[in-house]
Amino acid sequence: MADLSVNVGGLKMRNPIMIGSSPLTAKIELLKEAEENGVTAVSIKHTMMHQKFKAQPRWYFNKDIGIVVSGDPRLDPDAACELVARAKRETDLTLVCNMSGAPGMLHTWGELASNLEQAGADAIELNFNCPNLLSAEIKTAVQGANLGADPEACAIVTAELKKAVKIPVIAKLNTEGGMTMKVAKACEQAGADIMNIHAGYRAAPGIDIYNGGAFLFPGTPRGNFGGHTGVWSRMISNRFIADIARALPGHALIGGSGLERWDQVVECIMFGAQAVQICTAVLYKGFGIIPPILEGIAGFMDEQGYKDIESMRGLSLAYIIEPSQMEYANVAASIDTATCTGCKKCTKMPTCTAINYNGESKKYEVTREDCLGCGLCAGVCPRQAISMKVM
Ligand SMILES: Cc1cc2nc3c(=O)[nH]c(=O)nc-3n(C[C@H](O)[C@H](O)[C@H](O)COP(=O)(O)O)c2cc1C
Repeated sequence: MADLSVNVGGLKMRNPIMIGSSPLTAKIELLKEAEENGVTAVSIKHTMMHQKFKAQPRWYFNKDIGIVVSGDPRLDPDAACELVARAKRETDLTLVCNMSGAPGMLHTWGELASNLEQAGADAIELNFNCPNLLSAEIKTAVQGANLGADPEACAIVTAELKKAVKIPVIAKLNTEGGMTMKVAKACEQAGADIMNIHAGYRAAPGIDIYNGGAFLFPGTPRGNFGGHTGVWSRMISNRFIADIARALPGHALIGGSGLERWDQVVECIMFGAQAVQICTAVLYKGFGIIPPILEGIAGFMDEQGYKDIESMRGLSLAYIIEPSQMEYANVAASIDTATCTGCKKCTKMPTCTAINYNGESKKYEVTREDCLGCGLCAGVCPRQAISMKVM
């Protein structure tokens, strides 16, 4: 039976699935529900020294793109310490605390982290990622993703935290600001025990085009942009997991964005993550998605002969090369005529002239010489009847 347990920079978890910091981790009832569904580690909702946003959440959701979060209430320090202490007593969860100090007051980061550690936190996760704390006055803002785009500032905060607590310190980075790799290296040098990367950018919500372009946040037509989470971000997240895994070989690494299925988690691990955080899919589908993810990973590992997570970790990194080193084998599409239903979806692509109907055989066929080898048809086919073959 495959061993799903991981030790991420000193954080021991029985499996690699964590729930990311969010409303899912802001209440004891939800932490218990996560645990009942097989989760063994959570990142508690962002705790801030001075919680200003007291309103209801403001999210724009669409299942094809994920959520644009322009506002979400955080925990204040007392509520967070109370939640952590209770979760420590009433669950076996590994408790990571996502937090930031007060703007411009470095010592408050350490103070808050120390209080959370005393309350029972197993690790502190520095919030260098929240896009909602971005400000137009970029020089004066010192929190969230603004801070997370400044390698020197992140190093200072990380070093302060390393002095303040004994538990592992996680730097939670995002991709806004274009400085992710420099920030990761600066945090590592300042002593961060674990990197956590998710692909996050500030994005616009949908707008009501029949109402003068008002924002589609429920009840809030005038709003602001927000942090974009969910399915759109998975491949970008994988790219950064791989970049960090290559830049900091062997360093403890949590990753993941837009994850909904077990095979997607395996992909993250093969790009170099030891554990993943999931949020949006659970927010709209429920904790019930977790058991099939765990079963799927275990079944895959048993079937493929991977005895533990570490033996799968980073396998894809060997396949990443520089663009100048790329070698191209010619490929062509091949249609399994028994599976093809003749739906014609593969014939709609303007750049492709290779797939045509053969009136005699009454089947769709590929003219190999005309095939570009792009693979669009294989992706478009609803029956997986098309595969790409090396010529
Ligand atoms: C409603 C909502 C609230 C979130 N709140 C926080 C937060 O307080 N702190 C944080 O670091 N990340 C926060 N996140 C980001 C998630 O923890 C996670 O990193 C991100 O959503 C990517 O994973 P996903 O695509 O599975 O949602 C939030 C995400 C959502 C959707």
